Amino acid sequence: MKIGVFDSGVGGKSVADALSNALADHEVIFINDSENMPYGDKTDEELERLVTPKIQLLIDKGCQIIVVACNTVSCTIFPKIRSKFTVEIVGIVPMVKPACNLTKSGKIAVCATPRTLSSPRYEELKNEFASKVEVFEPDCSNWARMIESSQVNYKQIRETIDSVCRDGADVVVLGCTHYHWIREEILKYTKGRAQVIQPESAIVDRVKTLIEQLA
Ligand code: DGL
Repeated sequence: MKIGVFDSGVGGKSVADALSNALADHEVIFINDSENMPYGDKTDEELERLVTPKIQLLIDKGCQIIVVACNTVSCTIFPKIRSKFTVEIVGIVPMVKPACNLTKSGKIAVCATPRTLSSPRYEELKNEFASKVEVFEPDCSNWARMIESSQVNYKQIRETIDSVCRDGADVVVLGCTHYHWIREEILKYTKGRAQVIQPESAIVDRVKTLIEQLA
């Protein structure tokens, strides 16, 4: 089966790689929209205009399952995108629920784009799972662009992570797939004070289930 993966840029590649490794009998096709990234500050209208043809392209390539490996799109225009197509479309949202289950300090940090953090879907996740948890949302607004261009200001990242850990966060959620590429550095900057979580294995499980259902 062909499985399509889409993101604004290199973030989705980490998800596509995880799917390729786990699903050797299937073909994973990854496309992005690097000329229009970052998505993290775009309006819903702009996102819909950019994302719709990319999903169509993956369908034209024969994909029966499509993973929108972008928290920003999944938290904003996902229902609209899903309603336009009949194939299975899977989204990725920040792992607020697992983080709230894991925290011992009652404080978590969600690193994500501005559009994800201001989205109704993210608000819903917090209302549903984080009512008793303090959620830090540090400014990561330039991270995706830095990672896309391989010009990461690690001092800035270190200060951000150090700050949320000093404030007591013991779980850091990577709520933007671009940040998966700097996971090791983020983990190092926690100095053992926090776990760092990201969604690849949950996505692999979800896609495996869908493959079985469609077979
Ligand atoms: N990688 C995307 C996400 O998970 C979007 C990053 C961006 O283009 O701003 O949110």
